[in-house]
Amino acid sequence: MTSATIAGDVLAIVLAAGEGTRMKSAQPKVLHEIAGLPMLGHVLATLDEAGIGRIGVVVGPDRSDVESAVGTLAPAAELFVQRERRGTAHAVLQARAAIARGTGVLLVLFGDTPLVRAETVRKLVETAGEGVAVLGFEAADPTGYGRLLVDDGELVAIREHKDASGAERAVTLCNAGLMALAGNAALTILDRIGDDNSQKEFYLPDAVAVARGMGLPARVSVTDEAEVRGVNDRAQLAAAEAIMQRHLRQRAMVAGVTMLDPDSVHLSHDTRLGPDVLIEPHVFMATGVSVAAGATIRAFSHLEGCEIGAGCTVGPFARLRPGARLAEKAKVGNFVEIKNAAVDAGAKISHLSYIGDAHVGAEANIGAGTITCNYDGFRKFHTEIGAHAFIGSNSALVAPVTIGAGAFVGSGSVVTGDVPADALAVARGRQVVKPEWAIGFRARPENLAKANRAKAKRE
Ligand code: UD1
Ligand code: CA
Repeated sequence: MTSATIAGDVLAIVLAAGEGTRMKSAQPKVLHEIAGLPMLGHVLATLDEAGIGRIGVVVGPDRSDVESAVGTLAPAAELFVQRERRGTAHAVLQARAAIARGTGVLLVLFGDTPLVRAETVRKLVETAGEGVAVLGFEAADPTGYGRLLVDDGELVAIREHKDASGAERAVTLCNAGLMALAGNAALTILDRIGDDNSQKEFYLPDAVAVARGMGLPARVSVTDEAEVRGVNDRAQLAAAEAIMQRHLRQRAMVAGVTMLDPDSVHLSHDTRLGPDVLIEPHVFMATGVSVAAGATIRAFSHLEGCEIGAGCTVGPFARLRPGARLAEKAKVGNFVEIKNAAVDAGAKISHLSYIGDAHVGAEANIGAGTITCNYDGFRKFHTEIGAHAFIGSNSALVAPVTIGAGAFVGSGSVVTGDVPADALAVARGRQVVKPEWAIGFRARPENLAKANRAKAKRE
């Protein structure tokens, strides 16, 4: 069978009913994010990439948050509730109805093991044969993991850490948690698993000994520890995040992105970066960011939910918030914040500005300190700035307002009314000059003594 046909006949069950108490969190463990996507989302994305579409997710009772996350992440997945937490085999059996419908291979994954690659999943599925296949790894520190007991090159059983003897604890080949079972034998195997162990739980790893007892083969598919790291606490969450970040950066660089200091760049699972993008140190990209070819993201910029066109320059110290859309060769400089605004080709917003709920036309020049006043405390309003318009520094554009194409706004203006194309608008106090006024001011009796002292100092 080719891997495509195997993948087409797989039922995947993802276990996500654990309490995750070691996370010390109000949020369920599987919804904690890595690279901006819940851990559970990573597992579901891996299944999608592996071409596995029949999915069941086992969740804990009263977990409407996990249920609605599954609804968004994998709308076709079937939900099963495990009312009592009685072990991983017991959890799989909550999906009995789906398993009983029949499948070529039953694949079990954990919601707290988010870094597994599609390739590894495919290999595991192909290893199951008539029996079971377990994903194994050599653990640097095997404490806590189930040990794979191999005899004469054959996998005979998995022993949980808590139940293992001294000699068994010395084994470093460990169970990653993922398992593939021949579909026609899966329910029989699962039903034969007992709870005769230190935890009085139904252990999925016991499927190995049960299958062997039925005369079925049990095999190990080995992978790297980095890929199968389980997340049980926040330190392990951070470790998994670091691995994912390295992976995302590596992929970007292979695809033609230059990073001057890769370790200081944070990407999201869905970040899209074109070739010849240059990223300076200390850049954070939250979800929903795309950067087209040849753009430069300068140091200390924070981007989220934005599109950056080809050849743009952003930053240093820029903040692009959701809905910021820069067309090609636009320039956004230091201490500029942009939200829900389209900036057309070649427009420049170089310093110290807030542009929100706006459209900036092509080649417009927005002077330093320009602010779109988009909010009146109740509602948001739009600012329209035409192509080639020039907004003088330190202007406030009070929305809703339109600045016509090619118009000028004098610096320091507070613009409350529309400005026609090619007009000049100046909206500030006119300058008053009083010649020699300061001389008279200094000569006032109450100022004289101090003025003389200052004069003596100057001379
Ligand atoms: C499990 C394995 C162990 C393996 C390790 C790899 C068992 C008994 N042990 O141990 O061999 O080395 O993973 O990380 O399988 N869950 C439920 N319902 C339950 C119990 C667990 O849904 O009743 C889910 C959890 O949410 C989690 C997964 O199953 O996603 C694993 O459970 P966990 O308690 O974390 O198992 P480990 O002790 O890590
Ligand atoms: Ca675990």
